[in-house]
Amino acid sequence: MSEQNGSVTTLSIDIGGSGIKAMVLSADGTPLTERNRVDTPKPAKPEPVIEAIAQIAASKGNFDRVSVGFPGVVRNGVIGTAANLDRDWINFDLRTTLEEKLGKPVRVANDADIQGLGAISGQGVELVITLGTGFGSALFVDGKLVPNLELGHHQFRKGETYEQELGRASYDKIGKRRWNSRLEKAIAALEYTFNYDYLYIGGGNANKITFELPPNVKTVPNVSGILGGIALWRE
Ligand code: BGC
Repeated sequence: MSEQNGSVTTLSIDIGGSGIKAMVLSADGTPLTERNRVDTPKPAKPEPVIEAIAQIAASKGNFDRVSVGFPGVVRNGVIGTAANLDRDWINFDLRTTLEEKLGKPVRVANDADIQGLGAISGQGVELVITLGTGFGSALFVDGKLVPNLELGHHQFRKGETYEQELGRASYDKIGKRRWNSRLEKAIAALEYTFNYDYLYIGGGNANKITFELPPNVKTVPNVSGILGGIALWRE
């Protein structure tokens, strides 16, 4: 394995509905390169997305292994859902395909799970939501992930799901003020449902929040969606 800063290096990739982001991390999760971003190909089918990842990987120099955050349910590297990409992803073995393409070990997880791994304290009930193209969610109990939580597609209000009410398409349609008022209601509903100790809010639109958050709620920088990639290699 190549040595950079005396440690194994990880190419961490975040596949989003609008952009694919990447960065190389040291074994302790310190960024070793800039964060690069390319637009997610449209239509976002597996082949062009994998091609885009291969191009980013080629531009990043040396790395030993790869972590990928995917915007849908992932089981053992195989995609279960991909609401904001393309139906062709369903049942697609992303881990094996990327391992063959890049010639490195690959681990794949849900994007919100990775965001959470980069943000949580590891104590108590910690809920993570991500506000981007979609609405991501991850629940941790004393640092242990409760797998495959998909709050985004659950009913929130007025017959609409959290994602329909708070995803990027809705933000663009209703504007900042109404989106913030919805988010405030969503936080209240989530607190009532999960009785979490902490709620973390990440994703590209987390910086659009204008109201004061309750003391047990905090925003996390979008970069944790990449930094958390290192956690996939913890034993
Ligand atoms: C997907 C989630 C994902 C979220 C954020 C949702 O549409 O179902 O799995 O975490 O978008 O990308």
